Amino acid sequence: MPGLQIGIDLGTTSILIYVRGKGIVLHEASVAALDSATGDVLAVGNRVASMVGRSPDSLRIVHPMRDGVISDFTVIQAMLGYYIRRLCGNRVFKPSVMICMPASVTGLERGAILELAIAAGAGRACLVEEPLAAALGAGMNVAYRGGQMIVDIGGGTTDVAILTMGTMALSRSAKVAGNALSEAVQRHLRRERNVLIGDPTAEEIKRKVGCARLRSAELAVYVKGQSYITHLPAKIEITSSECYLAMRERLEAMVRVMQRTLEETPPEMAGDIAEQGVVLTGGGALLRDLDVMLHERTGLKIRTAKNPVSCVAAGLGIMMEHQNVLEDNGYFYRTEDDIGEYTRSRNL
Ligand SMILES: Nc1ncnc2c1ncn2[C@@H]1O[C@H](COP(=O)(O)OP(=O)(O)OP(=O)(O)O)[C@@H](O)[C@H]1O
Ligand SMILES: [Mg+2]
Repeated sequence: MPGLQIGIDLGTTSILIYVRGKGIVLHEASVAALDSATGDVLAVGNRVASMVGRSPDSLRIVHPMRDGVISDFTVIQAMLGYYIRRLCGNRVFKPSVMICMPASVTGLERGAILELAIAAGAGRACLVEEPLAAALGAGMNVAYRGGQMIVDIGGGTTDVAILTMGTMALSRSAKVAGNALSEAVQRHLRRERNVLIGDPTAEEIKRKVGCARLRSAELAVYVKGQSYITHLPAKIEITSSECYLAMRERLEAMVRVMQRTLEETPPEMAGDIAEQGVVLTGGGALLRDLDVMLHERTGLKIRTAKNPVSCVAAGLGIMMEHQNVLEDNGYFYRTEDDIGEYTRSRNL
């Protein structure tokens, strides 16, 4: 098929695009600015991210992905359309687009995502599960005959999957990931220190001093906010222990989803996982000491992938190079004509 081959990791926090033969060519924030009056999409991506918390009333900032799934189809279609046009320029042939989706999306949502990709300018589109792509991108040998565990901690969801022989044997997901940790810090400062901070500041605190367990060497950062009581500007210091305690409950939820998945894993595969260890991907995996904490809580060997944020996109690239293997596993590109057929065949 002529035309570009594009892989899209549509995440809650960021969108990464891989172009076959070129690699990852785009990494943008999953955010858009709309005209408050008309609802038209005016700008998307990183240009908008810097406006979060500072936008004028005439603009409405929206996050069209929530908890790993599309919450605003119109905005996502406009975003994808914009990126596809930017990448394809005035090429005659429309691109083939491979899109990742969380393992938990329903059949109905799959049909809708395929339709959206076609409407955004794809000539044909194929959906693949995010944990599979993440595992490939993390360098795991997905053809391994035993069970392997991958945990993707993104912005919106923590997805735990057990893979075997190139397919997903089991997957569980929790709507607690990196963004929930930043929100917990924000909430803590409002409730306990009477200080309001915006999303970018909460993110900064998490990255600079956030950690998944108490540390012997304390870290601290000063940040600017607004007093909840006087509404005047306020400058406060927050330490790694305080940040950890604010995030503790949410971190516990991540541990629970891993434990629940392990409980449901057949014993043979659980034995393989104990031997092989677990691979962490997604930006949330970059939280300080997360690997150490998960090892302490589960007793498993934990390895954080190299470049965890780009594993899914890199995995899509590998899948594009091995289209025949994908087809053997039941992943096919759909065109506009066969999406209706696909939807009917699944009684959607
Ligand atoms: N150094 C870091 N320390 C802690 N958290 C980080 C760091 N870098 C990125 N993150 C977090 O990673 C998350 C984004 O990760 P990623 O880009 O994998 O998410 P996503 O794919 O957009 O989301 P999802 O897969 O849930 O839809 C954000 O919550 C961000 O705060
Ligand atoms: Mg992701």
